[in-house]
Amino acid sequence: MARGIFITFEGGEGAGKSTQIARLAATLRELGHEVVVTREPGGSPGAEAVRHVILSGAAEPFGPAMEAILFAAARADHVDQVIRPAVERGAIVLCDRFIDSSRVYQGVTGGLEPAFMQALEKVAVAGTMPDLTVILDVDPAEGMRRATRRRGDEAADRYEKEALEVHRRRRDAFLAIARAEPQRCVVVDTTRAPTKVATAIVRAVQALVTRRLGAGGRAQAPRPVEKTGAAGKAGAA
Ligand code: TYD
Repeated sequence: MARGIFITFEGGEGAGKSTQIARLAATLRELGHEVVVTREPGGSPGAEAVRHVILSGAAEPFGPAMEAILFAAARADHVDQVIRPAVERGAIVLCDRFIDSSRVYQGVTGGLEPAFMQALEKVAVAGTMPDLTVILDVDPAEGMRRATRRRGDEAADRYEKEALEVHRRRRDAFLAIARAEPQRCVVVDTTRAPTKVATAIVRAVQALVTRRLGAGGRAQAPRPVEKTGAAGKAGAA
């Protein structure tokens, strides 16, 4: 059966995720792959309806547990309606934020119990875990400057408004996840020019894509997992 690839992009505000996802999608499409670009919170009609409730701050007065459950509800619908069907038909799915954003924003800086967060994650993903997670690392002060520039006259959302110290804790938490799961995660430094960042991402993705799908987008039988993790490969990039 065809089995595609599920890649997630994570990081703080202003890390440049959407630019890099668009570039990678174009590169992969040129190679002949079907690419599905999606994002969280949202990505399916049900999840987009929940997105507005969360990002407007309407759920904030009810506490972090309420928000975490809403993110998980949105994710369950997104996985079920969009991500899993795409991966099953052999596509490459590029998703802007996924489980690690919940682990970091709700779990670490929201102060929720790890067991509660793990239970929500399990229900939301229902077995569809990312094959690769690209963590775009940015110094939070620089990230906030970029996010403010990008926003222009638009008001900051619920999360962009938070203090620099909170953003620093999130950066540390993303880096801790990468250290704990080197087989799944690769950290890419975004202080370099966007073209260099894009090259580092392509290198991290290429080996996985070739092994799974072949250069022309044909599904191939899976090969045994290599000894070096994703992080090791990008380190050499
Ligand atoms: P969004 O406008 O999509 O911005 P970004 O470019 O930062 O991804 O906003 C999504 C916000 O929601 C972002 O601040 C992170 C937050 N978030 C969580 O707190 N938990 C989650 O599980 C997800 C997916 C996002």
